[in-house]
Amino acid sequence: MSADGMAIVAHGLTKRYGKLTAVDHVEMAVPRGSVFGLLGPNGAGKTTIIKVLTGLSPISDGQATVAGYDVSRQPMEVKQRVGWVAAEVILDDDLTGWENLWLQAQLQRLSEWKGRATQLLEYFELSDRRKDKVGTYSTGMRKKMEIALALLHQPEVIFMDEPTIGLDPNVRRMLWTLITGVNKEFGVTVLLTSHYIEEADALCDHVAIIDLGKFVAVGTPSELKSRVKEDFIEFETSEYLTEAKLRAIPGVSNVRSQGNAWILRASSAEEVLPRLFQALKTDMIHRINVEKPSLESVFIDITGRRIDQGGADVQDYRKFYMQVRRARQ
Ligand SMILES: Nc1ncnc2c1ncn2[C@@H]1O[C@H](COP(=O)(O)OP(=O)(O)OP(=O)(O)O)[C@@H](O)[C@H]1O
Ligand SMILES: [Mg+2]
Repeated sequence: MSADGMAIVAHGLTKRYGKLTAVDHVEMAVPRGSVFGLLGPNGAGKTTIIKVLTGLSPISDGQATVAGYDVSRQPMEVKQRVGWVAAEVILDDDLTGWENLWLQAQLQRLSEWKGRATQLLEYFELSDRRKDKVGTYSTGMRKKMEIALALLHQPEVIFMDEPTIGLDPNVRRMLWTLITGVNKEFGVTVLLTSHYIEEADALCDHVAIIDLGKFVAVGTPSELKSRVKEDFIEFETSEYLTEAKLRAIPGVSNVRSQGNAWILRASSAEEVLPRLFQALKTDMIHRINVEKPSLESVFIDITGRRIDQGGADVQDYRKFYMQVRRARQ
């Protein structure tokens, strides 16, 4: 596809914070009208990529174009054409939904905004709550409002940083439908970050798996998944084991150790597990995990670690809002 067909193009995109390289020579091409996902663990560099692409933070090295404009040389052109839904809350709780939209219009210096605002409220089914303070909205309604604000100036590209973090599964599903809807209905290119495997799989046309600032794999979710056809069995034991012993188990095609864990590849975990239990002292196993082919297993295959280490996403969103509110007072 030509560069014209691309909403975002980056070559050698690099961001350093002192000695730390948060984004490391990233190559990127996001087709217009698509949904592109950055999937990676905490600290991988996802938010930093959004910050440099939106001009919030200067690029250290390399070059990037967003909506046809050079991020470093034409930052104002870029800012006019992008919307941003931050991971943290940006709503003003003491203002109504409509007033939040008004405030956003002032910040963006929009003169013609009321028609668009009305349309967005309708689309997000918030019309009848427009005169209520946003502080009284449900979690899902607040998230919708944040997306509405980001769409007010009719951006070509919208950046969503962990749009569903901490949300309960129902609200998360609702948001998935909404994100796909916004992409199709408003023709907006979406770049989202996530560390939820199913989310990237369900929503994205293309996914870049990112680790330590580098893109370790890029493709459609099915292309990426087809790279790993086998199951993974990952376990930790205090028993002394050798690679040879594990390799000798029928059905095991590959063995490696990673920190305290062993990672086995097998065409069928169901067949191998009983044999594994026979070969090992089961009372010395601390942890065992089976991973069927998924974007997670692609990440495990490349890095030996998991994307979602758990724990990071159990935070209650309401608690998070409370903290933000308290910090403001
Ligand atoms: N302003 C900053 N100054 C110094 N280091 C920073 C700054 N912002 C980010 N970093 C570092 O850059 C790396 C990437 O951070 P980033 O926030 O982009 O990760 P992330 O993939 O968004 O992680 P998470 O999933 O936790 O949001 C981290 O090591 C982080 O500590
Ligand atoms: Mg982040």
